[in-house]
Amino acid sequence: MLRFILLLLLICFFSGVSAVAFAEEAGQFEHLVLATAPINTSDMASIKRGAKFFATNCMSCHTLMYMRYDPVAQEAGITYEKMPLNVKTWPLGVKPPDLSLEASIRGVNWIYTYLHSFYQDPARPTGVNNLLFPSTAMPNIVAPYQGDQVLAPVIHDAGGMYGNTEWYDLVVLTRQGTMTPEQFDGTIADVVNFLAYAAEPYRIEQHRIGWWVLGFLAVLFVLMYLLKREYWKEVKKHKEGERWN
Ligand code: HEC
Repeated sequence: MLRFILLLLLICFFSGVSAVAFAEEAGQFEHLVLATAPINTSDMASIKRGAKFFATNCMSCHTLMYMRYDPVAQEAGITYEKMPLNVKTWPLGVKPPDLSLEASIRGVNWIYTYLHSFYQDPARPTGVNNLLFPSTAMPNIVAPYQGDQVLAPVIHDAGGMYGNTEWYDLVVLTRQGTMTPEQFDGTIADVVNFLAYAAEPYRIEQHRIGWWVLGFLAVLFVLMYLLKREYWKEVKKHKEGERWN
């Protein structure tokens, strides 16, 4: 039994370690940390809002091949026919990647931070640069909503224990777009939530089934334990009998 508990603890420990190892990725800005995307992956209303935003703002460039037959995507107008499949030449010669698995590849916090951290840079052909993805070929699609940002003249280091810097310590909003910063955060959270859904559309279903499986195992455990007691009763009786003979 003790060995079993130790094994369980070991498994928990290692799954924790791997999550930490993949958590952060530094960009050009040494202490830039990823913001935590405020998403709730079981909030279907948020996922649907994100899907709509994706259909109108992102699908002119990015495909979502794995979402072709998904009812949530279809309802939002994300269909195979509307995806940019036949574009031969892209600006700067960079083909926008398919984003079906983006949330698994880069992580939700990465996408959330990336979409927040465009800033004006006249040296770039797109007129913008990105804190997290320097020299990105993607234009600042979210500028109409967020507004324009420039690099902060003085970097306000948050000065946390490890000197971590958030994206908003590095830029200043010079013109607000159609959304307040809070509305913009909410909209980007919805898009990221949708991309998380796109990468794992069965996640909600899996969680539901997971509880049934755990319940089944718990019942099985009790039954097995009772069965074991029943078997050993005989064995013990037998042994006791041997001892006295
Ligand atoms: C005008 C075309 C265009 C639009 C519209 C557009 N993107 Fe992009 N996007 C690009 C290009 C090009 C890249 C590749 C950048 C590079 O590799 O330098 C890119 C890259 C990305 C990446 C990073 C991919 C990676 O892992 O390297 C993400 C995430 C992303 N886009 C999300 C979005 C979202 C979300 C929207 C809608 C709000 C959007 N994009 C709208 C052109 C576009």
